[in-house]
Amino acid sequence: VYCSPPTAVANVSQYACQRRTTTENHNKIFTDVMEELAESSEFNESKGPCLAFRQAASVLKSLPSAVQCLEAIQGLPCLGEHTKAVMEEILTFGRSFKVEELRCDERYQALKLFTSVFGVGPKTAEKWYRRGLRSLKEILTEPSIQLNRMQRAGFLYYSDISKAVSKAEAEALGCIIEETVHWIAPDAILALTGGFRRGKEYGHDVDFLLTMPEMGKEEGLLLHVIDRLRDQGILLYCEYQGSTFDVSKLPSCRFEDMDHFQKCFLILRLEQGQVEGERGQQRDPGDSRGWRAVRVDLVAPPVDRYAFALLGWTGSRQFGRDLRAFAQKERQMLLDNHALYDKTKQLFLPVTTEEDIFAHLGLEYVEPWQRNA
Ligand code: CTP
Ligand code: MN
Ligand code: MN
Ligand code: MN
Repeated sequence: VYCSPPTAVANVSQYACQRRTTTENHNKIFTDVMEELAESSEFNESKGPCLAFRQAASVLKSLPSAVQCLEAIQGLPCLGEHTKAVMEEILTFGRSFKVEELRCDERYQALKLFTSVFGVGPKTAEKWYRRGLRSLKEILTEPSIQLNRMQRAGFLYYSDISKAVSKAEAEALGCIIEETVHWIAPDAILALTGGFRRGKEYGHDVDFLLTMPEMGKEEGLLLHVIDRLRDQGILLYCEYQGSTFDVSKLPSCRFEDMDHFQKCFLILRLEQGQVEGERGQQRDPGDSRGWRAVRVDLVAPPVDRYAFALLGWTGSRQFGRDLRAFAQKERQMLLDNHALYDKTKQLFLPVTTEEDIFAHLGLEYVEPWQRNA
């Protein structure tokens, strides 16, 4: 078995923002397992182990080739004893017994299933599990369970929104959003963010950022867009959150904190005929309706915060988390989706582009398609 010499993996940074990670993952057999272990830790509210598995997976994703033996990962950051033991199992037996055991675990199965419903987080899933519920059907037929509006939409469109969104579908939605936004405001600025901006072929939703070139003009924009989508008959569900943005506040230290921009979480109806490659195509006889439901996120920051919002919403989650950790630990700066603050100089740093943010942090620029950490 070929083992790459230790020099081949030297100088890998512990921070994802100092690594270049494309969508091409040579170590999927390891990272899939790590991500399942991370998810299981999350269900058990073990934050430390959860983060450790996510970081380990992220480091492995950045490697230029597949790991063939344990010697090849010597000197790599973020790989703890636990992770190494799992990798050894996979290298020796081609599988991880620990994960196979987990996949059979009743609690893990139920929590994974419940959290796969839009609007259901780990807390609600745990509550349902404790009540003895195990299947989605049991949730729906249990009379004492009160679903909120988001969860009702989650169940209603479950089979559609648990199906991956293709790049062609994301592009078709991009056209619809673009037409809608520019019909309302011809000079509006619109950008695709999230996984599709990073070059992913599939996603769980499609994310967009929109703003206006003139400060303050973005305020009513999102509600107009929502109205227009409703008028077109394609708005299946909308959860709108108004802005709670405060310009004087310091950037948040905690990555888990949500940003304060105006945003909405939508479910839209996408006609099959509007998707490139599926136009005029013979439809699946079992699926005669010719449309599907898709999750879409729209965020509308004021234009002077556009670069921060674009960087934050492009992700990946791990890339964003490490950018903030790097800023704080290595530069004594606070970064979030709204601003960058220099604690030493005690001032907010001026930014108009993503490149400016990397430059202020003393980081080499990382292209969106290299942020799949
Ligand atoms: N994000 C954020 N604030 C939120 C929600 C999301 O900053 N309130 C960021 C996330 O950290 C992530 C990006 O926006 O980096 C996109 O989020 P999401 O759509 O959940 O993930 P994707 O990377 O697009 O992956 P997927 O293909 O599964 O949608
Ligand atoms: Mn246009
Ligand atoms: Mn997304
Ligand atoms: Mn999203």
